[in-house]
Formats: sequence, structure tokens, C-alpha cells
Amino acid sequence: MREDYIAIKSVSKHFGSVRAVDDITFNIEEGEFFSLLGASGCGKTTLLRMLAGFEQPTLGNIYIDAQPQAGVPPHQRPVNMVFQSYAIFPHLNVHKNIAYGMRKSGLNKAEIDRKVDEMLELIKLPGYGTRGAHQLSGGQRQRIALARALIKQPKVLLLDEPLGALDKKLREQMQLELRALQRDVGITFVFVTHDQEEAMTMSDRIAVMSEGKVLQIDSPTHLYEIPQVKEVADFIGTINFFSGSIKGKDGDATIVDTEGLGQVRSMAGNSETPTSGDITVAIRPEKFGISFQKPNVMHNVVEGSIQAAAYLGDRSHFYVHVDGREAPVAVAAQNAQRVLESVDPDKHETVWLTWDEDSALLLSR
Ligand SMILES: Nc1ncnc2c1ncn2[C@@H]1O[C@H](COP(=O)(O)OP(=O)(O)OP(=O)(O)O)[C@@H](O)[C@H]1O
Ligand SMILES: [Mg+2]
Repeated sequence: MREDYIAIKSVSKHFGSVRAVDDITFNIEEGEFFSLLGASGCGKTTLLRMLAGFEQPTLGNIYIDAQPQAGVPPHQRPVNMVFQSYAIFPHLNVHKNIAYGMRKSGLNKAEIDRKVDEMLELIKLPGYGTRGAHQLSGGQRQRIALARALIKQPKVLLLDEPLGALDKKLREQMQLELRALQRDVGITFVFVTHDQEEAMTMSDRIAVMSEGKVLQIDSPTHLYEIPQVKEVADFIGTINFFSGSIKGKDGDATIVDTEGLGQVRSMAGNSETPTSGDITVAIRPEKFGISFQKPNVMHNVVEGSIQAAAYLGDRSHFYVHVDGREAPVAVAAQNAQRVLESVDPDKHETVWLTWDEDSALLLSR
């Protein structure tokens, strides 16, 4: 498998004064499920359209399978694109929609029929060939659009929010189906979404984008557990930030004086973590332990009072006031044991929060 199957080298796209894509460099591996994740307007579609050949980079180069793509028109690239809206022809039946891209393939009718049937099997709609496009549900139409893109056996499939128009339940089902289908056919998927759960469910790796730049490229696990910058930590899931300043080292641990957690011991720095100066300590809600009795620990413990509590069945959320921090600390606890008493937030009960040295992330301010 080529690691640089798609190579994006110093690529920018300017629209007048807007830098839609701003000097981006990274590779996508052959057979990878790769997602572009970021808020609206961060440049995801623009990057995808440059891979497809609908836009030319203002600066930089794109290579697919080692071939430079400058000047190569969309239909001569080994890629196919699936758009957000259901891009199927309303006046054609399912069979004709899927076969549409094969007209110029040089295959005879019997061969095309066989391929269309194969595609219908793959998208789990066997026997649907004669259905009219208007006789399909939204999810079925989206699967037909996928089949039409896949039948040409592109080496790369570009998908721009293909599940955006579906309701939550269907969307979650399609996410799993799409992932299984990608495994089956083994082609490289570049998938655009602004939904972090969707990206995490499906992807081998995710590029988190902001304002035309790539902030971090990593597996879903690493993005969540070891974010490199505050913006990524904040964008993926929920997290608490505490301002602090580094006091020094104790063995491998970094000691930080914080606003809110007192003194924090952290082993979650890396080689680039500074040894002095201002820093942000970041801790996910579920990494806190919460107890009503004072725990018997030396480090990484703070006293607080409950401001708000929400029982959610499988877990409970607590919002805990700690001295030195205005906003309450968000804490999530699994209700693995049966809970029969609800916490009364009006009592502002005293609690203690604890956390591991490995869970206190150190991020530059
Ligand atoms: N043809 C164009 N002319 C001028 N500006 C454009 C053009 N296409 C995109 N832009 C601008 O470039 C930026 C990136 O747009 P893009 O469509 O790539 O964002 P996106 O990440 O796909 O957002 P969304 O999640 O809303 O689809 C935006 O500020 C947008 O207004
Ligand atoms: Mg877009």
C-alpha cells in the first residue's frame, strides 16, 4: 500500500482575498478511509474539489498515484465524487441511474447489466433495478448515488457530506454500511463531514481543519486522547481547560500551578512541552473521579461543590464549582452501579475530584 497514494504538497486556493485553503501538505494512504473534519467554511469542499479536478490550486501540487494532477480534467482522474444532495436523475430508473457512467465504457449491454446487478447486491438493494428514482427513500437514493460512483471502479472516491440530508438513525446505519462497503471494495475514501462522531465512527485517520489550515492529522483515538492543540481538543468532544504556569519537573512529571485545580502533576506532556511559562491543563469530563468522601491521595485532588447535576441513565453529568475558576468543571461519571438517589444540586454538596497524571493534558495557551 502506497503511503503517499494521494500527495497534497503546499496546496493553497485563494478566491480573491479569501484563503479557502492555506498551504496544506499531507498524504493519504492507499485503501485508507480518510476524513476531512472542520466547521463550516474551513475549506473542506474546496480541497475535495481540487482533488476531483473541479478547481485548480492557486499554489502547490496534487499527486495521485505519483502522477501530477495539474491540468488533468476531472474525467481523466482516477477519482469519482459523491455530492451532498442526492445526485441521481429523477427521470431514470435505478438501473439506468447506476449504468449512466458506463455509457462510454465500451462494455456491451450484457456486461453492463451484470455489473449493475453486482452493484445492487453491494448496496443491499437487489432487484431494485426497475424502480423509479421517485419511488425510493432518501437513504436508498444515496446508496444509488454511491453505486453509480463505484461502478466505474475509481481508485479514489471523494464524498462530500454524503449523509448530510439523512435523519439521525438512518445516518448512523449508513455510516456502518459505508464503512463495511469501503472495506469490501478496498478503494481509498476521502470523506468530508463537519460531524465529529461521524468522522470518528468511520475513519482510519482524520484531518481536523480550521480556516484553510490542517491543525492535526491522526487516528480518532489519538485525536481524542492526545490532541496537540487547544482548538482540536475543544472541537473533538468536551474538555475542561485550566490556565496554569509550569513550576518545574518532578522526575518525568511536570508540575503546574493552575487556576481551579491547584497543583497538577502531569505525565501527559511530550518532547515539545515547555519546561517553564504559561500553559493550559486540559482534562476530559470522564477522566475525573468524583467522590463524596475525601479520597486518600497525595496529588491531583481538589475540593469543590456541586452546582448542577444531570442523570442520563448510563451516566451522570456533574458541574462542580472549584475555587479559582469561574466556570464549573464538567464531570461525567458512569452509572455502572444502580443509582436510586438523585443528587440535589441546591444543597451544593462538597465533593472531591481526582485525576490521573496521564489524563491531565498539557497544551500551549
Ligand atoms: N467559488 C468561490 N468563490 C469565492 N469564495 C469561495 C468559493 N468557494 C468557496 N469559497 C469560500 O472559501 C471558504 C471555504 O469554503 P468551502 O466550501 O471549502 O468550506 P467547507 O469547509 O466545505 O464548508 P461547509 O461545511 O459549510 O460545506 C469559505 O469562506 C467560502 O466562502
Ligand atoms: Mg462544504
